[in-house]
Amino acid sequence: MRRAGNRKGVCNMKILLTLIICAAVLQMTTQAPTSDTELLFNYIDKNQDMFVQTLKEWVAIESDSSSSALFGKVMQMVNVTAEKIRSLGGDVELADIGSQQMPDGEIVQLPPVILAELPKDSNKPTLCIYGHVDVQPAKKEDGWLTEPYVLTEINGNLYGRGATDNKGPVLAWLHAVEAYQALKQDLPVNIKFIIEGLEEIGSYGLDALTKQRNDTFFADVDYIVISDNIWISNKPGLTYGTRGDCYFYVKVSGGKQALHSGAHGGSLFEPMADLIALLDSLVDAKGQILVPGIYDDVAPLTEEERKLYENIQFDLEEYKNNIGVTRLIYDKKEDVLMHYWRYPSLSIHGIQGAYADPGSKTVIPNKVIGKFSMRQVPNMDPVVVEKQVTEYLHEIFAKRNSSNTLKILMPIAAKPWVANVNDPQYVAARRAIKTVFGVEPDMIREGSTIPIAWNFQDVTKKSVMMLPICGADDGEHSEKEKISRSNYIEGTKLFAAFFYELAQLR
Ligand SMILES: *[C@@H]1O[C@H](CO)[C@@H](O)[C@H](O)[C@H]1NC(C)=O
Ligand SMILES: *[C@@H]1O[C@H](CO)[C@@H](O)[C@H](O)[C@H]1NC(C)=O
Ligand SMILES: *[C@@H]1O[C@H](CO)[C@@H](O)[C@H](O)[C@H]1NC(C)=O
Repeated sequence: MRRAGNRKGVCNMKILLTLIICAAVLQMTTQAPTSDTELLFNYIDKNQDMFVQTLKEWVAIESDSSSSALFGKVMQMVNVTAEKIRSLGGDVELADIGSQQMPDGEIVQLPPVILAELPKDSNKPTLCIYGHVDVQPAKKEDGWLTEPYVLTEINGNLYGRGATDNKGPVLAWLHAVEAYQALKQDLPVNIKFIIEGLEEIGSYGLDALTKQRNDTFFADVDYIVISDNIWISNKPGLTYGTRGDCYFYVKVSGGKQALHSGAHGGSLFEPMADLIALLDSLVDAKGQILVPGIYDDVAPLTEEERKLYENIQFDLEEYKNNIGVTRLIYDKKEDVLMHYWRYPSLSIHGIQGAYADPGSKTVIPNKVIGKFSMRQVPNMDPVVVEKQVTEYLHEIFAKRNSSNTLKILMPIAAKPWVANVNDPQYVAARRAIKTVFGVEPDMIREGSTIPIAWNFQDVTKKSVMMLPICGADDGEHSEKEKISRSNYIEGTKLFAAFFYELAQLR
């Protein structure tokens, strides 16, 4: 701050400044490095180039799981990860999750899931870390400015496929362990790893494996932590919920074939008109879902929860610019976030069989399938939602007295997940974030559906937390995927501090 003042004032200011600087230097020399965590942070800072180099080696392995033809690379990545865990003294099992028949009939062996455990001390709490080492597809010609599988540093950002999703965070966990070991500091918690190579195609086999190992691998686990999402700003976030999803197909069928509107239009009950009426009955212009009873099970907003929204750093103008819209339904930050995270939403996605390609077609489709989905929040139950939606749409349809037939299917039902923010691992993470970043985290949820957290919690009944270290602009799945060097390195410190804080709460 610059202020006008007389000479005397400036003089005093100088003395004061000198004193402040002296005090600061004194504090630095007396304080650093005294505590164990500071020694760890120093080690992590000093070795950051080595950590970046390891990430470069990992990114270089094209472990794209989108096609079984590339499972060899995924397998190689699983092996490299297993080897790294062994080098930290871990006992590694490559758990077989079987094989899968591909659309062409070929049967392929699936890459195994890593189940690993570091040497254990029964007096310490046990933390199970989840991660994945497969990636989304990436080709230079998709629009990458750098080679997708060559980690490239530009202005403090490390660009490359998998840098943020999820190789960077997985390595940050491993390097946090390595820091303790290198400094011969006792790890404050027991650590287990569950690391897969099929996350990007839906974590095939993981749920079954979790159930199968519930009484063995998971039996002594106290906490499960996942670091596979991002912050919502440049401020650290801590994620305590995800929305679920119910996906619906609404099929209206009429005659045997599509007909010409000139020849037949006028005396037919047209399937498309019925479908449009059905879809139009679902949600109003303000985003309110019109299906009776749908809000009955939505958890009421508590004062404690409302407070969590107040401090969140989220710039509405910037957000609107980013997504290219001029106005949102709500104009308060809190309302916008709540409608992404803690209230259900209904979106209409498309109509199959709609002759929607360009050109002035004059066809009357005889069979159309409308697709919509409803994001689920606590305490909605997909079984109840399916019944409510089905009954309501049949009622609307009956009023039209149409000759067509209506069929409603719900092929996807993923439940929402929400954790208790006062659970010890959340308290530990908040403290660790404060230590490393000097701020309280934004307590955030994900509006989208990440089944893994709910699945782990549902099967094991353990405490589950999502602890992201990646920035809001990391571009996971895009041609600009990156992790910043700072997030990667400070994230490693965060994990090291988290181990420490978790043990303090015991
Ligand atoms: C992975 O490791 C297994 C067992 O160590 C080995 O049989 C296999 O050939 C390795 N695969 C790749 C792709 O490296
Ligand atoms: C529905 O259509 C049938 C003939 O198909 C007719 O008898 C009936 O009155 C109609 N109902 C209503 C409510 O319009
Ligand atoms: C898994 O084990 C926990 C105890 O650790 C238990 O509470 C839970 O019900 C078990 N889950 C299943 C699916 O058996």
